[in-house]
Amino acid sequence: MIAPAARWPLAVLPTPLQRVPRFSEALGLEVWIKRDDVGSLPLAGNKVRKLEYLVAQAMQAGADTLVAQGAVISNVTRCTAAAASAAGVQCHLVLGGREPERANGNLLVSSLLGAELHFVDIPRFTGPDAWERLHGYTEELCQRLRQDGRHPFLMPVGCSAPHGVLGFVAAFDELATQLAEANIEPTRVVHTSTSGGTHAGLVLGRHLRGHGPPITGVAAANVYPDLQGRLEELATSAARLLGHDIGRGVLGFDVRFDQLGDGYAQPTPAALAALDLLARTEGILTDSVYTAKALAALVNDARARRIEGPVVFWHTGGLPGLFEPAVAAELWQRQRQNARHAQPS
Ligand SMILES: Cc1ncc(COP(=O)(O)O)c(C=O)c1O
Repeated sequence: MIAPAARWPLAVLPTPLQRVPRFSEALGLEVWIKRDDVGSLPLAGNKVRKLEYLVAQAMQAGADTLVAQGAVISNVTRCTAAAASAAGVQCHLVLGGREPERANGNLLVSSLLGAELHFVDIPRFTGPDAWERLHGYTEELCQRLRQDGRHPFLMPVGCSAPHGVLGFVAAFDELATQLAEANIEPTRVVHTSTSGGTHAGLVLGRHLRGHGPPITGVAAANVYPDLQGRLEELATSAARLLGHDIGRGVLGFDVRFDQLGDGYAQPTPAALAALDLLARTEGILTDSVYTAKALAALVNDARARRIEGPVVFWHTGGLPGLFEPAVAAELWQRQRQNARHAQPS
């Protein structure tokens, strides 16, 4: 279906579609997990599917340097660093926040992969102002690189641009094949959403296939004032790359904001409880910034009997985020408190 676009293989595909019987039993709901968290640590997670098409685009454009920007804890910058190494080009990462005294998971990995790190001192990395400052720095950096004779390719925010979306059009096909093989018809697919590329690609994939389960994106950040408009723009532009003209309002996007809590990277009790439940019933970890928030939506719906099985939870990865010092400290404190409460007095 996506033959018109070039792909630079980075991910190990297909990722497993796994039944999780003990988690399902705990919820009274049949759950399957699409394991995009599986793979080598630098190249695991949803960004890798998008990067396959973006790196191909960059190479076609003659790039010799990949530039990506994001929060200091971001997964997309780490994945871009890994993709650059795998493609044999240089990488510069522009990161919103101070250089931390202690490494966090994604940052350490990016550094080990040889990326050059640029910190833009933004005290609280959230909202359009923070992004504007980051874009300003990144533009200057790209100019400097060009003056030095290099050919930088700037990755779109979150890798969510039409070429990146193609990764999740293909991913929907991958899932559809696995569902047919497993002989299941899920009532819904649930995943985490921030910059929208994952959601746009899955919805477009479903549309082009003509059928399939509805898709729900659970917001882990509130970046775009008109997220619906952005999703539509991303999906219809990606469709045009494939030779399809899809009119306005044809694609519907189900986005939920009810698990956002105090905002991006602020863990919620529901997300931490969902993280614990999946970890302890199945030995599968989610991260507290992104994936546990979508998992919490699923857990809440199951407990309120608002959803019927089977359901697919699309695990979008992000596990190095667990080792960001502030996150790790909070999770550790919570685990120790729980352990003390569990001890007989
Ligand atoms: C682990 C993880 N899950 C989900 C998302 C959201 O994906 P998208 O940006 O395509 O909406 C991100 C984005 O940073 C992520 O890192």
